[in-house]
Amino acid sequence: MVESTRTATLTFDDKTIELPIHSPSAGPDVLDIRKLYAQGSVFTYDPGFTSTASTESSITYIDGGEGILLHRGYPIDQLAGQSHYLEVCYLLLYGELPSAAQLEEFEGLVTNHTMIHEQMMNLFKGFRRDAHPMAIMTGVVGAMSAFYHDSTDITDPHQREVASIRMIAKLPTIAAAAYKYSIGQPIVYPRNDLDYASNFLRMCFSVPAEDYVVDPILARAMDRIFTLHADHEQNASTSTVRLAGSSGANPFACIAAGIACLWGPAHGGANQACLEMLQEIGSVDRIPEFIARAKDKNDPFRLMGFGHRVYKNFDPRATVMKESADEVLELLGVENNPILQVAKELEAAALADPYFAEKKLFPNVDFYSGIILEAMGFPTSMFTPIFALSRTVGWISQWKEMIEDPALKIGRPRQLYTGETQRDYTNVEDR
Ligand code: CMC
Repeated sequence: MVESTRTATLTFDDKTIELPIHSPSAGPDVLDIRKLYAQGSVFTYDPGFTSTASTESSITYIDGGEGILLHRGYPIDQLAGQSHYLEVCYLLLYGELPSAAQLEEFEGLVTNHTMIHEQMMNLFKGFRRDAHPMAIMTGVVGAMSAFYHDSTDITDPHQREVASIRMIAKLPTIAAAAYKYSIGQPIVYPRNDLDYASNFLRMCFSVPAEDYVVDPILARAMDRIFTLHADHEQNASTSTVRLAGSSGANPFACIAAGIACLWGPAHGGANQACLEMLQEIGSVDRIPEFIARAKDKNDPFRLMGFGHRVYKNFDPRATVMKESADEVLELLGVENNPILQVAKELEAAALADPYFAEKKLFPNVDFYSGIILEAMGFPTSMFTPIFALSRTVGWISQWKEMIEDPALKIGRPRQLYTGETQRDYTNVEDR
């Protein structure tokens, strides 16, 4: 951490405390309150972490006001436009873009780890056929620690490296297998002559009776979806991974915790919730009714796929994703798909409505990714698993950064207690 030269003075009761101010390489200054409790016997209160930096990090930078997202300094639109997912994985993990030789070696390494232990196939069969693929993924990824014992020692850098590669390589295989199982089709094994995105599409859509020929436009759109979801700083699931990892839990357990957190509709579950909302709207003529509901304070309904905690002007991922959505829709056509027609009209209606403009609510990345995935033929239940497999590299990079930080401490928030103070137990007959 950069040495701080400035301090802020906090005065309350009869106490005066000097708090160091850290200047980050970008973004607002940060007040260091680590000694606050020791010096002032007070806690800070910030549920939802709206003003709290939980960690120091050099991986991803977001400026929500300006709509900036940088990975290791590189803007997301340049990465999504000119790079590809595995190169971005390398960048997130190791901090720099790879040379041609490094990229070839990294891609070879990931490709050579795409298969999962054959006994893991039995795990899938243990689930009900109608299990949500996220439920299966949470279980199967957590169970990886029961299969890959040689990469669970977090104190060994080589084992950490192997665990990282294994997860990046195997998550698509696991996500596709969860899907195949849920629709009663045989699980398709990976093919290492295909690129990362094409291999995933084939594992999802091919059947033994008929192979799936991957359209390069769809493979490119898939790769962009992976790239645009690769990391997003200290969001809920990443913070979950860090908190789980701070106790020394093995990496597979930590990523399973991240997957569980991502599932919620306010986070990664939003893309599924968004498509379900479009299905519920059903036809273009019902859009005004749903817009009115989203604006009604007494109705808990929200337009899913709209708004963001950090981006208050636009979501830079959504800008790129919209381009991809337009490309895919042009290729596949929307004329006969009422859901996609509703999506297009809803986007236009919300953007033209002053309520959404005033509250700075605009379509986020999940709005457009849902549309693309729907057009590609994915069921809504696969939307969040696809987000999870894309975000795995971000979780791992953040977990590795934390483990390698000599200042690592177990995460242990405090609380503002409002319960009963001490009282005496009474026997049941006396109550
Ligand atoms: N539809 C209608 N009104 C909304 C919406 C929405 N989608 N989002 C926020 N608002 C209103 C909200 O009612 C509140 O109004 P008021 O100030 O009058 O009380 C105001 O906007 C601020 O909302 P908030 O809940 O305080 O904002 P937040 O920063 O805590 O929430 C959010 C951010 C993403 C949870 C929220 O916008 C939301 O629920 N959106 C829908 C779910 C969604 O699309 N999530 C995906 C986020 S992107 C992927 C990811 O990073 O996981």
